[in-house]
Amino acid sequence: MRAKKLLVFLLLGAFGCSPQATDEANYLASISDTKVLQFAIPGKELYDSHCANCHQKDGKGLGKLIPPLRDADYFKSNVHRSVWIMRHGKDGEILVNGQTYNQAMPANPKLSPLEIAQISTYLYNIWGNQEGVIDAPRVEAFLREQPRAN
Ligand code: HEC
Repeated sequence: MRAKKLLVFLLLGAFGCSPQATDEANYLASISDTKVLQFAIPGKELYDSHCANCHQKDGKGLGKLIPPLRDADYFKSNVHRSVWIMRHGKDGEILVNGQTYNQAMPANPKLSPLEIAQISTYLYNIWGNQEGVIDAPRVEAFLREQPRAN
């Protein structure tokens, strides 16, 4: 009897109350600003369904085929350019963290400015980034003008 109770206790401890095995679900936990969270929560859903197939949920990309977004000099240096790429896709050579990539990223003509704002706010406020809210009017302004370094 006692052994059985102990077993149940151990199983609950191991599977019931332990933190998630992967850390990807917890990226949102590093955000405390509620306005940022309002964008980042739907942004995570959109990222996971529209981008993570290639860039991976952890943002580290895929070998020599897909560049990383996490800890990536290219991504960090220009929000305008990233927003433009999310809508219009990209091909041709690209240098990210000293590594050359050359595959096509498809355009996302169906993503609305608000959805791009949500994805951007998510990505630019996790993994050490702290850009704050990137809202829909800002995205619309970015999409009106092609960035120079594309
Ligand atoms: C089918 C695979 C695929 C999907 C889906 C995809 N990308 Fe990409 N992405 C790429 C590839 C490949 C490149 C590099 C393009 C090149 O070589 O010019 C890239 C480049 C980028 C870049 C610039 C490079 C960098 O590392 O910063 C950003 C920003 C980016 N993608 C963000 C996104 C976001 C956000 C989404 C979701 C809305 C997304 N991508 C969806 C494949 C993909």
